[in-house]
Amino acid sequence: PLTTTGELVTRARAARTAVAAFNIITLEHVEAVVTGAEAARVPVVLQVSENAVKFRGGRLLPLARAAAAAAEHSAVPVALHLDHVQDDALLHQAADAGFSSVMYDASRLPYDENLAATRAAVDRAHAQGLWIEAELGEIGGKGAHAPGARTDPAEAWAFVADSGVDALAVAVGSVHAMTTRTATLDHALLGRLAAALDIPLVLHGSSGVPDDELTAAVTGGITKVNIGTALNQAMTAAIRDHLTAHPEAVDSRTYLSAAREAMARTVERLARLLSPS
Ligand code: G3H
Ligand code: ZN
Repeated sequence: PLTTTGELVTRARAARTAVAAFNIITLEHVEAVVTGAEAARVPVVLQVSENAVKFRGGRLLPLARAAAAAAEHSAVPVALHLDHVQDDALLHQAADAGFSSVMYDASRLPYDENLAATRAAVDRAHAQGLWIEAELGEIGGKGAHAPGARTDPAEAWAFVADSGVDALAVAVGSVHAMTTRTATLDHALLGRLAAALDIPLVLHGSSGVPDDELTAAVTGGITKVNIGTALNQAMTAAIRDHLTAHPEAVDSRTYLSAAREAMARTVERLARLLSPS
């Protein structure tokens, strides 16, 4: 069934586990995430990034409708989240398109501007009943960004108090779009952030974080784990392997099936790791 991100995060926090949130780009991603979550018997978040909306010609609804339909028919609870939103017009569409939560990303801005923009986004989101996550520090790796500044606990405390966000994405050593699982997290910093903040913390760029570091992060206070690149790696490798083995292939269903199965296996494994039942 379709549920809300707030509900899943609250439950995970109480159980000291984390919710895996997977970025979806194609219908195969949507189906694979739900299939993988059902196999693991673990609730998940389907998240659509602003970049994915751009890839779909600026249209949110086709992917949102597919995700909502998949969630409604799922055997496990599934929530819809709009990820890395910078465009106010997109934020405005979220609730009507079936999303229960958004991540508003003004992390590229200096502190004061990030706070002002985030506070305005929080007001708009809460007026529509949306749960909202923001980012402080720079997780980096989003296009032009280099791995950036870590999140400072005292600054984070003030940012959360002044902005009213429901959750905070923290920069503790992960980097977006890594294709090797070689990130090392600053667990001491994460511990200080978890002690300072009374809201759920979110790890971005989780594809580059090894299993043991992920489980340590969950133990250390991470409640939502965002995963994107790992699915693209699984998808692309499966398609490449299939087309290499079958250079005469024509029917797109053959290689898309392989891609979907590979992504579902990745989802199942990570969902189990983050939320052992
Ligand atoms: O918001 C999305 C995530 O941070 C995904 O990062 O593609 O490096 O796993 P990733
Ligand atoms: Zn991210």
